[in-house]
Amino acid sequence: MRAAVLHTPGSPPSHREHPTPEPAPGRTLVRVTAAPVVPLDLLCASGTSYFGRPAVPYVPGVQGVGVVERSDALPPGARVWFATSAGMAPGDGALAERCAVPDADVVPVTADLPDTAVAALGLSAVAAWMALTWRGRFTAGERVVVLGGGGAVGQVAVGAARLLGAARVVAVCRSAAAAERARAAGAEEVVAPDGDADALAERLRGAAGGAVDVVVDPVFGVAAAAAARVLAPGGRLVNLGSAGGDEAAFSSAVLRSRSAEVLGYTNNALTPGQRAGALATVLGHAAAGRLGVAHEVLPLTEIERAWRRQAAGDAGVRSVLTP
Ligand SMILES: NC(=O)c1ccc[n+]([C@@H]2O[C@H](COP(=O)([O-])OP(=O)(O)OC[C@H]3O[C@@H](n4cnc5c(N)ncnc54)[C@H](OP(=O)(O)O)[C@@H]3O)[C@@H](O)[C@H]2O)c1
Repeated sequence: MRAAVLHTPGSPPSHREHPTPEPAPGRTLVRVTAAPVVPLDLLCASGTSYFGRPAVPYVPGVQGVGVVERSDALPPGARVWFATSAGMAPGDGALAERCAVPDADVVPVTADLPDTAVAALGLSAVAAWMALTWRGRFTAGERVVVLGGGGAVGQVAVGAARLLGAARVVAVCRSAAAAERARAAGAEEVVAPDGDADALAERLRGAAGGAVDVVVDPVFGVAAAAAARVLAPGGRLVNLGSAGGDEAAFSSAVLRSRSAEVLGYTNNALTPGQRAGALATVLGHAAAGRLGVAHEVLPLTEIERAWRRQAAGDAGVRSVLTP
């Protein structure tokens, strides 16, 4: 089969021939129709992450969408979204014509959405939804700040906060294009992350119209330090990424005076049931036009370009590859 094959950690995969996966008990063979390139794919493939150095060659792709060809759990022809541990554990991922996936990691999809839109949402949307609602315990009427509001996680977090009845949704975005995506997702105000934490905190407070109850944070660094300063009593900052830096400085006085919380989040801590439930919920909202992730569809032959663009850190819209 044709696949994106990674030979050297830290370098992009290339489009070439690769052995088709063999059927095996407990595994569902999926004919892949769409798979995105996401930050986790690059992290796993870097060879320097906390997952360790991956065995090469392997096919990256921690998630995809497709049609069941052979399975003990689902009928042939079923439309599915699936997750893989490509790059985190030995085995191949979704950026190929076919993928063999543990049955527990295959989720039937019924939402009336193109496969490419489902692929663009995927784990980014699950993370945004669960960080806001489950880890962040968001309730209607609260004020929300979304750092990195123009990224895939950010767009879904903004849309989710709006549709669940946030009193105010403020996005932090670095570029005009990112700000446009955040506004399209439903942000009422967009703030640029310029200046130091004090200056950004002041602008966030003004844009939010007061203290903030939940911060969804895929960025960390100075932006998280600033957002923590505007937390309301009982406020929660949920960190799920470090696009802007791996460390942030928090004031003890700020946190303890408000009994505020700084929380970590990872999709890897979800049960398959939680993940499937969150995915069904976000896909339902997306099918109704209430959520989405801006994306560009490319043939799998373009994997190297899509990978380099994501690696540059200003990917803009999500790349979704079709074999
Ligand atoms: N914990 C989990 O389970 C989980 C799940 C999904 C994603 N994540 C993490 O969340 C982060 C965002 O993922 P994504 O899918 O939204 O990626 P994405 O669509 O590629 O967007 C990248 C985001 O990071 C921001 N960013 C990139 N470099 C930055 C920098 N130097 N300083 C400040 N902001 C920067 C971008 O801001 P602009 O829009 O302003 O350019 C954008 O919002 C990644 O770190 C990813 O690994 C974690």
